[in-house]
Amino acid sequence: MTGVPAGTANSPSTSAVDGEREAAERLITVYIMGKAYEVPAEATIMGAIEYAGHQIIRGAGCREGYCGACATLYRLPGDYKIRAGLACMTLVEDGMTLAQIPSVPAEKAIYDIEKLRPNVSAIQQMYPTVFRCVACGTCTKSCPQGLQVMDYVQAAKRGDIAAVMDLSFDCVVCGLCMLRCPAEITQPLMAILAKRLYGRYLRKDSPELAERVKAVEEGVYEAEYAELMAMDREALSERYYARDSE
Ligand code: FES
Repeated sequence: MTGVPAGTANSPSTSAVDGEREAAERLITVYIMGKAYEVPAEATIMGAIEYAGHQIIRGAGCREGYCGACATLYRLPGDYKIRAGLACMTLVEDGMTLAQIPSVPAEKAIYDIEKLRPNVSAIQQMYPTVFRCVACGTCTKSCPQGLQVMDYVQAAKRGDIAAVMDLSFDCVVCGLCMLRCPAEITQPLMAILAKRLYGRYLRKDSPELAERVKAVEEGVYEAEYAELMAMDREALSERYYARDSE
């Protein structure tokens, strides 16, 4: 402990610390694959699954809400709704019944981007199921990223590739929208096509990017790469979290 007195602005009071500890130690019941487990009340779903003794072999990646590997469906007591979330970001609740979804089956279209154009025909050819959309909004309600998925599906139907790219930009391809979609649309895969079309045909030139690519090609960062490559995991992690970011 430092010499800062308890209860100052920089130091939580003893009772606050005790409260946090109590919350961390409080156990609640969750149901994992139909079986009841006592888990810490403050745990994420992923933490609770591991606390319960399961090893997550598939269904975990970044553990920070970026990779989309940990799609999970759950229900809460007295609530008819099936809810969806990322296991690494969603906290458990007492009585929660959950199932992790290891992968969502989907057929990925194979295409040569040079033979497509950024218009509605590309969507029609590669992802025709988009036109089965009944605008029910289930995809939007399922998205753990809070994206307006149905809106980008509508944009795709209009051939507005820039809008699809923009509205789907933060998609982590967890697959929950396509899992719940009654029209069986594969929204994230279609969005990837739109992003590729945007990148190939619609994006504006960026002088800053050109400058940075030139610097990379000229070896400006070679010494820094070598330094990073020589670091162990701990030092690398420390450096990463201390970095300046926007
Ligand atoms: S593990 Fe990567 S988003 Fe949850």
